[in-house]
Amino acid sequence: MKKILCIGAGYVGGPTMAVIADRCPQYTVTVVDINEKRIAAWNSDDLPIYEPGLDEVVKRCRGKNLFYSTDIAKGIKEADIIFVSVNTPTKTFGTGAGRAADLQYLEKTARSIIEHADSDKIVVEKSTLPVRTAQAMSRILHSNTRGLKFQIISNPEFLAEGTAINDLMNPDRVLIGGLETEDGQKAIEEVAAIYANWVPRERIITTNLWSSELTKLVSNALLAQRVSSVNSISALCEKTEANINEVTAAAGKDTRIGAKFLKASIGFGGSCFKKDILNLVYLCGYYGLPEVAEYWEQVIKMNEFQSRRFVANMLAAMFNTVADKKIAILGFAFKADTGDTRESPAISVCRQLLEERARLCIHDPKALENARLDLEDAEGDITYCEDPYEAVKGAHAIAVMTEWNSFKELDFKRIYDSMEKPAFLFDGRNLLDADAMYEIGFNVYPIGKKAKTHF
Ligand SMILES: NC(=O)c1ccc[n+]([C@@H]2O[C@H](COP(=O)([O-])OP(=O)(O)OC[C@H]3O[C@@H](n4cnc5c(N)ncnc54)[C@H](O)[C@@H]3O)[C@@H](O)[C@H]2O)c1
Repeated sequence: MKKILCIGAGYVGGPTMAVIADRCPQYTVTVVDINEKRIAAWNSDDLPIYEPGLDEVVKRCRGKNLFYSTDIAKGIKEADIIFVSVNTPTKTFGTGAGRAADLQYLEKTARSIIEHADSDKIVVEKSTLPVRTAQAMSRILHSNTRGLKFQIISNPEFLAEGTAINDLMNPDRVLIGGLETEDGQKAIEEVAAIYANWVPRERIITTNLWSSELTKLVSNALLAQRVSSVNSISALCEKTEANINEVTAAAGKDTRIGAKFLKASIGFGGSCFKKDILNLVYLCGYYGLPEVAEYWEQVIKMNEFQSRRFVANMLAAMFNTVADKKIAILGFAFKADTGDTRESPAISVCRQLLEERARLCIHDPKALENARLDLEDAEGDITYCEDPYEAVKGAHAIAVMTEWNSFKELDFKRIYDSMEKPAFLFDGRNLLDADAMYEIGFNVYPIGKKAKTHF
């Protein structure tokens, strides 16, 4: 029975290891973390992250072949294969601050592996890392004085929060990169054998280490670029009476373009897109490619422009002032079906509205706790509401920030009746039926479409 260890019990390590344990009963899977509270939550009925389907998978395996623990030393000693899934945020200090990846957590992990290991291991990079990190990992790990050998494998994770379990159960592809040596190829096969328990072989792609590391950054950059491309055109649609939904539906029919990820919105969020593009931008600068760096940086600038534009539109529509007006914020998570608010555009929108002295009432089905932490230091009048009807009562405007399906089920006639008039609805996700909302009485401002107003 092989033993798998994962260091880092976050949004990636937690669900990924649960699915591996579920699909591979012949492996023992242990997930460790330095965060005791997080591990305690993984061992409780109240898991530390919300993800549809996650509870069931964890309940099926926990205590059988899936364990969450803080005993990192024991985990390392016993493991044959170690996945490293620690956070790799953007550096906030020193050289490359604001762009480069902060690799201190990764390096600390490598150092604890050599401190506690007493046999050769395969170490799998699951975290998203700058290309060529495996070389640094290898050098640190081989600085051990006991002659231990480590094979470094890159196996980036492509799950999306909100659909993580489905993405893990039915991945478009699993990518495994290793050294082009005999030992490197053997290690690739060991890791591929795990996934082969449930993923068809043709979807398990093997490459050299550097292609695998770089592919993850490129995949996120390309996805974010689609969002920014569509959002840039949404601004033009609002000026020209073109309708972004019609434009993207027609453009997306071209099989070379494809229909997915062409939705206009207040912008992308999440812990990865911005950080990974910044990482790519930094790498391009480091390798002397300033034009390439500038090209990708524009994707982030467009994303920031979109949330500023959203607030500017709100102000203009509401007679150039929101001071002392109550604005109901519907949704705070960076997307639906997650409680994660990291880099959520709602953070920036709320902060801008607070600067304009608006009073905010925030509702989100899963992200209220994180919203409180995100706005902890923000000055102004903010309340947090479990009940959406409470959030909108007496509000001058509603701003939809997250595409929660449950928002579509709300009684908008009741909501309209409880609001100040004229009632404004700014739909940052084009979630609601603009015609129906207009019929109820709202002045409706979707993204990339003509506003529907009663003025
Ligand atoms: N969140 C996503 O959707 C997603 C998707 C694909 C890839 N990734 C990548 O996966 C990596 C992890 O992301 P995440 O969202 O799971 O982060 P996270 O912050 O939720 O989890 C990381 C965990 O690692 C732990 N940790 C840090 N240093 C440690 C150490 N020395 N020993 C033990 N534990 C340690 C932290 O306590 C934390 O719980 C990142 O590189 C990210 O870019 C994330």
